[in-house]
Amino acid sequence: MTVEMAHDRHTETIPVMRPQLPAADQLEAYLRRIDATRYYSNHGPLLRELERRLALHFHVQPAQLAVVANGTVALSAALLAVGAPAGTRCLLPSWTFVGSAAAVWAANLTPYFVDVSPQTWMLDPLELERRTDLDGVGAVMVVSAFGAPVDTAAWDAFTERTAIPVIIDCAASFDTVTSVASARPGKSPIMISLHATKVIGTGEGGLVLSTDERVMNRFHRICNFGVWDSPEGQILGYNGKLSEYHAAVGLAALDGWERRRESLAALTRRYATALAQRGVTTLPHYANGWVSCYCNVAVDDAAGTILRLEKAGIATRRWWQSGVHRQRAYRPFGRDDLPVTDDLGSHVFGLPFFHDMTDAQFERVMRSFDEARSGLRAAML
Ligand SMILES: Cc1ncc(COP(=O)(O)O)c(C=O)c1O
Repeated sequence: MTVEMAHDRHTETIPVMRPQLPAADQLEAYLRRIDATRYYSNHGPLLRELERRLALHFHVQPAQLAVVANGTVALSAALLAVGAPAGTRCLLPSWTFVGSAAAVWAANLTPYFVDVSPQTWMLDPLELERRTDLDGVGAVMVVSAFGAPVDTAAWDAFTERTAIPVIIDCAASFDTVTSVASARPGKSPIMISLHATKVIGTGEGGLVLSTDERVMNRFHRICNFGVWDSPEGQILGYNGKLSEYHAAVGLAALDGWERRRESLAALTRRYATALAQRGVTTLPHYANGWVSCYCNVAVDDAAGTILRLEKAGIATRRWWQSGVHRQRAYRPFGRDDLPVTDDLGSHVFGLPFFHDMTDAQFERVMRSFDEARSGLRAAML
């Protein structure tokens, strides 16, 4: 019998995530505008409106923000825009989604994996600065752990002191970047994914924020074939443009953002309280005034807990697996010893988290979580 069949057939599995983009009727007015203008891509009126509205949301000037085809393209274009020389090393955490490393590879840099801090699950700027092998490092990619706040001023200071450009993968930080003062955009470009699974999405999409308008200018050109103001390719670039259809989804999603945020915040608080009562470790700074699309926990017997939850019809996901350095395509790349990443990789997994989770679903998740843990404890005796 498969694990899926093992739980009560009459109990529906609770998915780990349940993305929901705007429905057809919420999109209609925007789609009709596309029909009327017959403008389908190439920085059309809907994309420009989306960028204007997002600039207001993030409290930046319109020139300090760009929306492009997806987060991975945004990361690689940001690495090119900050001038990371081709063929050099890019230091990044292994504790991330494989897309971060894919962007490093796509920008013609060589990924080199370094460990994260056990306090934040993220790179530490002061620790990185103490390295004695920074010569030949062309860039650093910092990764926000599941939407947690990154101290952007500390990373700008790192660049000032070392002359190494930094880009920040804040894929899940759509809310954090406005809600937490220390996470607000600085010079180092920040990428936020607008993938359907994130708190707000365009289906596929990503945005970049930086107060360095020279970098943003290069970023725009790179994502537009290196062409700007004339049909000529002036610098090397590719196609990172977002279509008007995706922009329509983004505009409709923004219309519903405040309500979406309230539900996400309520669920975040609820999980944080329930897990704290049980003494369960969660992501550092979880439920500290920001929301994302995850609830991650770290438990002793993660594999056993996951299996028991699965049998009870509760889906979970080891979102970042055992770290990127253990994935086949990335094993050949250089790395430090990664004890913190190895520890997180064997203990961390995500519980079901979606904005319209019902009370009954939440209670079932927590009841099954308790049963899984007490069952494991009993089995050990
Ligand atoms: C940490 C991280 N980096 C990069 C990406 C890639 O973003 P996208 O899917 O928009 O290309 C993701 C996507 O989920 C992510 O979680």
